[in-house]
Amino acid sequence: MRYFADKQDVVQDIFSRYPDTERGRRSALMPLLREVQNAFGYVPEENIEEIASLLGNTATEVKSVMSFYSTYHTIPTGKHHLQVCATLSCAIAGSDELWDHLVDTLGIQQGEITKDGLFSIQKVECLGSCGTAPMLQINDEGYHECVSKKRIKLLLDQFRRGEPFNPDILPPIPIHAGQQELE
Ligand code: FES
Repeated sequence: MRYFADKQDVVQDIFSRYPDTERGRRSALMPLLREVQNAFGYVPEENIEEIASLLGNTATEVKSVMSFYSTYHTIPTGKHHLQVCATLSCAIAGSDELWDHLVDTLGIQQGEITKDGLFSIQKVECLGSCGTAPMLQINDEGYHECVSKKRIKLLLDQFRRGEPFNPDILPPIPIHAGQQELE
Protein backbone atom coordinates (compact mmCIF):
# COMPACT_ATOMS: atom_id res chain seq x y z
CA MET A 1 0.00 0.00 0.00
CA ARG A 2 1.40 3.36 -0.98
CA TYR A 3 1.49 5.51 2.10
CA PHE A 4 2.02 8.94 0.59
CA ALA A 5 -0.43 8.60 -2.32
CA ASP A 6 -3.02 10.80 -0.59
CA LYS A 7 -0.53 12.73 1.51
CA GLN A 8 1.08 15.09 -0.96
CA ASP A 9 0.71 17.91 1.56
CA VAL A 10 2.83 15.93 4.03
CA VAL A 11 5.45 15.24 1.37
CA GLN A 12 5.56 18.88 0.29
CA ASP A 13 5.83 20.03 3.90
CA ILE A 14 8.82 17.74 4.46
CA PHE A 15 10.51 18.77 1.20
CA SER A 16 9.98 22.45 2.05
CA ARG A 17 12.34 22.06 5.03
CA TYR A 18 15.31 21.44 2.74
CA PRO A 19 16.97 23.22 -0.21
CA ASP A 20 15.25 22.56 -3.53
CA THR A 21 18.21 20.63 -4.90
CA GLU A 22 18.92 16.96 -5.46
CA ARG A 23 20.96 16.83 -2.26
CA GLY A 24 18.27 18.76 -0.40
CA ARG A 25 15.57 16.34 -1.45
CA ARG A 26 17.71 13.44 -0.30
CA SER A 27 17.84 15.06 3.13
CA ALA A 28 14.12 14.41 3.37
CA LEU A 29 14.78 10.69 3.67
CA MET A 30 14.79 10.54 7.46
CA PRO A 31 11.49 12.38 8.06
CA LEU A 32 9.80 10.37 5.28
CA LEU A 33 10.95 7.14 6.94
CA ARG A 34 9.76 8.48 10.28
CA GLU A 35 6.29 9.21 8.85
CA VAL A 36 5.85 5.65 7.63
CA GLN A 37 7.29 4.07 10.73
CA ASN A 38 5.03 6.14 12.98
CA ALA A 39 2.05 4.87 10.97
CA PHE A 40 2.93 1.17 10.78
CA GLY A 41 5.53 0.61 13.48
CA TYR A 42 8.02 -0.35 10.76
CA VAL A 43 8.78 0.52 7.14
CA PRO A 44 7.38 -2.13 4.77
CA GLU A 45 9.32 -3.02 1.63
CA GLU A 46 6.81 -1.38 -0.71
CA ASN A 47 7.12 1.89 1.20
CA ILE A 48 10.90 1.74 1.05
CA GLU A 49 10.49 1.67 -2.71
CA GLU A 50 7.88 4.44 -2.54
CA ILE A 51 10.25 6.69 -0.57
CA ALA A 52 13.13 5.88 -2.91
CA SER A 53 10.94 6.92 -5.84
CA LEU A 54 9.97 10.19 -4.14
CA LEU A 55 13.63 11.02 -3.56
CA GLY A 56 15.03 9.80 -6.84
CA ASN A 57 17.04 7.18 -4.94
CA THR A 58 17.14 3.43 -5.17
CA ALA A 59 15.57 1.16 -2.57
CA THR A 60 19.07 -0.12 -1.82
CA GLU A 61 20.22 3.40 -0.90
CA VAL A 62 17.24 3.84 1.41
CA LYS A 63 17.92 0.47 3.05
CA SER A 64 21.57 1.32 3.53
CA VAL A 65 20.61 4.42 5.53
CA MET A 66 18.03 2.45 7.51
CA SER A 67 20.57 -0.20 8.38
CA PHE A 68 22.81 2.43 9.98
CA TYR A 69 20.11 3.47 12.46
CA SER A 70 18.65 0.84 14.76
CA THR A 71 15.58 3.06 15.20
CA TYR A 72 14.28 2.10 11.74
CA HIS A 73 12.67 -1.31 11.37
CA THR A 74 12.03 -3.34 8.24
CA ILE A 75 9.88 -5.87 10.08
CA PRO A 76 6.98 -5.34 12.51
CA THR A 77 7.78 -4.75 16.17
CA GLY A 78 5.78 -5.17 19.36
CA LYS A 79 3.97 -2.28 21.02
CA HIS A 80 6.95 -2.03 23.36
CA HIS A 81 10.16 -2.58 21.44
CA LEU A 82 12.93 -3.37 23.95
CA GLN A 83 16.41 -2.52 22.71
CA VAL A 84 19.30 -3.85 24.75
CA CYS A 85 22.69 -2.21 24.29
CA ALA A 86 25.20 -4.94 23.44
CA THR A 87 28.31 -2.76 23.14
CA LEU A 88 31.35 -3.18 25.38
CA SER A 89 30.48 -1.18 28.51
CA CYS A 90 27.02 -2.70 28.71
CA ALA A 91 28.36 -6.17 27.92
CA ILE A 92 30.84 -5.85 30.80
CA ALA A 93 28.00 -4.69 33.05
CA GLY A 94 25.92 -7.77 32.19
CA SER A 95 23.78 -6.94 29.16
CA ASP A 96 24.25 -10.48 27.77
CA GLU A 97 22.69 -11.87 30.92
CA LEU A 98 19.84 -9.38 30.70
CA TRP A 99 19.30 -10.29 27.04
CA ASP A 100 19.08 -13.99 27.93
CA HIS A 101 16.68 -13.08 30.71
CA LEU A 102 14.43 -11.21 28.27
CA VAL A 103 14.54 -14.10 25.78
CA ASP A 104 13.54 -16.55 28.53
CA THR A 105 10.93 -14.29 30.11
CA LEU A 106 9.21 -13.26 26.88
CA GLY A 107 9.78 -16.50 24.96
CA ILE A 108 10.91 -14.71 21.81
CA GLN A 109 14.08 -14.16 19.83
CA GLN A 110 15.19 -11.03 17.98
CA GLY A 111 12.79 -10.40 15.09
CA GLU A 112 9.83 -12.03 16.84
CA ILE A 113 6.85 -10.52 18.68
CA THR A 114 5.13 -11.95 21.75
CA LYS A 115 1.75 -13.52 21.00
CA ASP A 116 -0.07 -10.67 22.74
CA GLY A 117 1.70 -8.20 20.42
CA LEU A 118 3.15 -6.32 23.37
CA PHE A 119 6.87 -6.97 23.14
CA SER A 120 9.76 -7.42 20.72
CA ILE A 121 13.48 -7.34 21.44
CA GLN A 122 16.59 -6.16 19.63
CA LYS A 123 20.29 -5.88 20.38
CA VAL A 124 21.59 -2.42 19.51
CA GLU A 125 24.87 -0.55 19.52
CA CYS A 126 25.96 1.99 22.16
CA LEU A 127 23.06 4.08 23.45
CA GLY A 128 25.38 6.85 24.57
CA SER A 129 25.22 6.37 28.32
CA CYS A 130 28.05 3.91 28.97
CA GLY A 131 28.53 5.22 32.52
CA THR A 132 25.10 3.94 33.51
CA ALA A 133 25.38 0.53 31.83
CA PRO A 134 23.59 -1.70 31.20
CA MET A 135 21.27 0.43 29.10
CA LEU A 136 17.85 -0.34 27.64
CA GLN A 137 15.81 1.75 25.22
CA ILE A 138 12.07 1.21 24.77
CA ASN A 139 10.63 2.43 21.47
CA ASP A 140 12.07 5.79 20.45
CA GLU A 141 11.81 7.64 23.69
CA GLY A 142 12.34 5.54 26.79
CA TYR A 143 15.95 5.27 27.95
CA HIS A 144 16.56 3.18 31.06
CA GLU A 145 19.83 3.23 32.96
CA CYS A 146 21.40 0.59 35.20
CA VAL A 147 18.90 -2.01 34.05
CA SER A 148 18.48 -5.05 36.25
CA LYS A 149 16.19 -8.08 36.17
CA LYS A 150 14.16 -6.45 38.92
CA ARG A 151 13.77 -3.24 36.93
CA ILE A 152 12.85 -5.21 33.81
CA LYS A 153 10.15 -7.09 35.72
CA LEU A 154 8.66 -3.85 37.02
CA LEU A 155 8.64 -2.39 33.50
CA LEU A 156 7.11 -5.48 31.87
CA ASP A 157 4.45 -5.77 34.57
CA GLN A 158 3.51 -2.15 34.10
CA PHE A 159 3.19 -2.51 30.34
CA ARG A 160 1.18 -5.74 30.72
CA ARG A 161 -1.27 -3.84 32.90
CA GLY A 162 -1.63 -1.42 30.00
CA GLU A 163 -0.24 1.48 31.96
CA PRO A 164 1.97 4.17 30.45
CA PHE A 165 5.55 4.21 31.67
CA ASN A 166 5.80 5.63 35.16
CA PRO A 167 9.41 6.09 36.35
CA ASP A 168 8.22 6.38 39.95
CA ILE A 169 7.68 2.60 40.17
CA LEU A 170 11.39 1.94 39.59
CA PRO A 171 13.87 1.74 42.47
CA PRO A 172 16.51 4.48 42.61
CA ILE A 173 19.54 3.99 40.40
CA PRO A 174 22.50 2.75 42.48
CA ILE A 175 25.50 5.03 42.84
CA HIS A 176 27.77 2.27 41.58
CA ALA A 177 25.90 0.75 38.68
CA GLY A 178 26.84 -2.67 37.43
CA GLN A 179 26.46 -6.36 37.84
CA GLN A 180 25.73 -6.24 41.54
CA GLU A 181 22.33 -4.82 40.63
CA LEU A 182 21.53 -7.39 37.93
CA GLU A 183 19.19 -9.43 40.14
FE1 FES B 1 25.99 0.61 26.25
FE2 FES B 1 27.50 2.74 25.64
S1 FES B 1 28.09 0.67 25.67
S2 FES B 1 25.47 2.72 26.38
